[in-house]
Amino acid sequence: MADLASKPLLDWVENSRAGVSSPCTALTRLLPPGITGIARQLHRQLDGYRMSPLKSLSGLAQLIGVGGVWVKDESQRLSLDSFKVLGGSFAIYQFLRKRLGIRDRELTVTELKSEKTRAQLGDLCFATATDGNHGRGVAWAAKQLGFRCVIYVHERTSRARIKAIEAFGAQVKVVAGTYDDAVRMVMRDAATNGWQIISDTSWPGYEDIPCWVMQGYTTMMTEIQEQLAGQGIARPTHVFVQAGVGALAAAVAGYYRGLFGDSRPVMTVVEPDRAACLYESARQGTGQARSVGGDLDTIMAGLACGDPSPIAWEILDHCADFFLSCPDFVAAKGMRVYAVPVSGDPFIVSGESGAVTLAAMMYIVEHESLQDLKRRMKLGPDSQILLINTEGNTDPGHFRRVVWEGSDPVPQEYRFPLV
Ligand SMILES: Cc1ncc(COP(=O)(O)O)c(C=O)c1O
Repeated sequence: MADLASKPLLDWVENSRAGVSSPCTALTRLLPPGITGIARQLHRQLDGYRMSPLKSLSGLAQLIGVGGVWVKDESQRLSLDSFKVLGGSFAIYQFLRKRLGIRDRELTVTELKSEKTRAQLGDLCFATATDGNHGRGVAWAAKQLGFRCVIYVHERTSRARIKAIEAFGAQVKVVAGTYDDAVRMVMRDAATNGWQIISDTSWPGYEDIPCWVMQGYTTMMTEIQEQLAGQGIARPTHVFVQAGVGALAAAVAGYYRGLFGDSRPVMTVVEPDRAACLYESARQGTGQARSVGGDLDTIMAGLACGDPSPIAWEILDHCADFFLSCPDFVAAKGMRVYAVPVSGDPFIVSGESGAVTLAAMMYIVEHESLQDLKRRMKLGPDSQILLINTEGNTDPGHFRRVVWEGSDPVPQEYRFPLV
């Protein structure tokens, strides 16, 4: 108990490199103007595509004294329970377009599926490492287009996550170690077997595909901006986004920096304390991406990455204002708040990685130990806060353990007093 009490509720660092005076030269290379429209155009053609909902938690906003809390609910993305498919599908599309040598126009999905195109492309096999959700998205997209797929997962990946990938006909290989070990293993095996890797993380010499993955995520952002505009809101004032390798956070931060420049929302990146590689990179403050080691044992399975994606870091280094490192109980609390909301608010099904930003934001707004951070973030009654519920119930056994059985409870010293 003494140990916990002396440890702060969550650790944070302010990024002094993300200012107006800090141009982000990587942005035009990684998220060039016009690319969001191209990604959206592809996604609109996918079977079952519709915008995922943007939900207002106005009761919660009132309770904690902020202007609004908006949740982009990716648990309702194409029946895949996560935003991840947006990246994998766009990367496969761009890869195939390049392979076909088409530069001057976009391809339709119908064209891609045609016998003529298939004959030109021949037999391809896509491969990737995953914590679960990215692999599921890649397997889905490969199946839609009729290609083979091999997905590498690490040894702690739940059976449910593996089955969800196999359901799309992919072969799943389980690798000893962590997600980062699975990445290294798939790199090696893909070279031997002639598979094409569709990775959401980058490494030196391998940037195009993870860049297309990031670009694919911007479909979510153009949807959000349309949905907010429909509510009379030009832009959020604050965004909290969770990170594993950082591709999602970079897509979100880069998108808003590109759209609004200096008047972009305050951007906060949230990670598990046992896999906080971006937080650590920012904390060291040298502009270099840093890896963290260890077994990365967190309930936030989708965020359990020790190596940041270098191209994502290039953006975050200049476009993210705060980095948080959170214990698991923060994610568990977020799941429960989403599942049992304030009266009148919609309930949201949110998995561990999806929910962490909600409870982290609530603690910053409400907890006395974080008031300095709240001030620095300029969070207050006029704030319009955007969160992304990046996954639904992707691991039903663990979901029940948290939501039904109360595992990872909030430690006594961080509970709010009864009023
Ligand atoms: C549910 C969920 N949220 C967030 C992320 C983080 O995305 P990234 O690895 O691009 O930082 C992931 C990654 O797999 C995820 O599965």
